[in-house]
Amino acid sequence: MDSEVIGKEDWQELQNNLEATIPVYDKINNFATLGQVSKWRRMVRKKLPDEGLILEIGCGPGSFAEDVEGKDLVCLDPIPEMLRIAKMRVSDKRTKRGDKEAKFVEGKAEELPFEDNYFDTVCTLFSFRDWFDKRKGLSEVRRVLKPGGELIIVDPAKINYFHGLLGHFWMKYWVGTYARIVCKQKEHPWKWLTKTYISFGTTRKYEKMMIEEGFESVKGRVIFPGMATIWSGKAPASEKFE
Ligand SMILES: C[S@@+](CC[C@H](N)C(=O)[O-])C[C@H]1O[C@@H](n2cnc3c(N)ncnc32)[C@H](O)[C@@H]1O
Repeated sequence: MDSEVIGKEDWQELQNNLEATIPVYDKINNFATLGQVSKWRRMVRKKLPDEGLILEIGCGPGSFAEDVEGKDLVCLDPIPEMLRIAKMRVSDKRTKRGDKEAKFVEGKAEELPFEDNYFDTVCTLFSFRDWFDKRKGLSEVRRVLKPGGELIIVDPAKINYFHGLLGHFWMKYWVGTYARIVCKQKEHPWKWLTKTYISFGTTRKYEKMMIEEGFESVKGRVIFPGMATIWSGKAPASEKFE
């Protein structure tokens, strides 16, 4: 795997492993991030506009989407089982809050099943590193964003080689040991977290890629204490996607 493209077979195996994480997804994620994951999700929710249509790409079991309050929301994921769980969780909370039903769509970032200039904001949390063609995915996001619409990405931080090495050890030993205990199996699906992190590029690399794919006002900010990056960028305000 390289940091731009994941081969077809590897991606399929990654998907099978992601599906296997569903029962313990939130538990292990909380442990892996020392509880910081809720703070990062809150940061993204605060950046969402008051009005307009929002797309979450790679919604997984709905851990972020369920707390998006009072906004029109579309959740996309390629794994039907993820969408099934997300729909239960998200719809339950939205009904209780009196929010309009969210939409759940099966699909991939690289072939978004939406028309041009459709969304006001697109966000993707802990999914970007799993996209099999990140450049294609970014170009698709730009296509479906309205002029001036924002893309927000959250994924693990990798500032440089040494920081990446620390992250690798953290995932392999800290998260890996816990996942082995929780999943009660040596060959647990969280091994893929380490694999995708190793092949993931630096914060700067994806900042550059976003600019190359036509985003403006691009920022990549490593969030204290250095475990995650939040990237943001806007579709050009003045022109429609061509
Ligand atoms: C770790 S989950 C993230 C769940 C959720 N966003 C959160 O905040 O916890 C990653 C999700 O990204 C999805 N994914 C993987 N490759 C994708 C792609 N190419 N396009 C869209 N989603 C993808 C996976 O199916 C998985 O459900």
